Amino acid sequence: MARSALINVMVGAARKAGRSLARDFGEVEKLQVSLKGPADFVSSADRKAEEIVREELDRARPGYTFLGEESGETEGTDGQHRWIVDPLDGTTNFLHGIPLFSISIALERQGRLQAAIVFNPITDELFSAERGAGAFLNDYRIRVSARTSIAESVFGTAMPVTGQGDHGQYLKDLAKVMAASAGVRCCGSAALDLAWVAAGRFDAFWNRRLAPWDFAAGALLVREAGGFVSTIAGREKTMEAGDIVAGNEAIHRHLVGLLKT
Ligand code: IPD
Ligand code: CA
Ligand code: CA
Repeated sequence: MARSALINVMVGAARKAGRSLARDFGEVEKLQVSLKGPADFVSSADRKAEEIVREELDRARPGYTFLGEESGETEGTDGQHRWIVDPLDGTTNFLHGIPLFSISIALERQGRLQAAIVFNPITDELFSAERGAGAFLNDYRIRVSARTSIAESVFGTAMPVTGQGDHGQYLKDLAKVMAASAGVRCCGSAALDLAWVAAGRFDAFWNRRLAPWDFAAGALLVREAGGFVSTIAGREKTMEAGDIVAGNEAIHRHLVGLLKT
């Protein structure tokens, strides 16, 4: 598969940060048994990964604005482009030695999503997309699933944790989807959940509270894989809106209908 220069830059950054995270992930298990525990180590692994991504992207595309979960937003001189980066999506999994986490990199051009990478360095699955050029898993084109029956569909979601989000509302959502579907999965990395929608593994995904770095890359992956992405109210998804529904056309429509009521 011939990749564009832009995607090559993003893949290079994701793979380099991925090597660093994979090395640190190997240490986490050992740290589980230490008195101090792995929490500090994990936050330094997270920051290190963001620095690597940032350095690589800056070197190849100087002047672009950079928004990273760890370092916040640094305005660039270019005025047209903005990177949106989560260097470690699935921190709780990482901390617990669960090999489901990802590096998520998106590029906006004039406020529109232009390119996306979601990379799981443990499974070596690299999801990529560029606006108008389709979505890929490693070298293969991916598409959202073709299922139209909600009863046969599997849904991804991200559960709010202690001190976060509206648990009552979430349980209402879950009750509706559980009763109608073939299953609900919560993997712990929203970026990967969306990549899995793009690859047709999940028929749809929803969440009421995500930050731009959690969903920017995943949203473009889903759209480029032929899927639909909106808010729960069915409106066009913006970076400012924290809620999201993504899926193939039919299941996206069913899910918006279920969650809205
Ligand atoms: C989290 C993951 C998780 C979602 C949380 C996010 P982090 O990101 O995407 O799936 O439920 O809302 O904060 O903290 O691991 O980067
Ligand atoms: Ca995240
Ligand atoms: Ca993160």
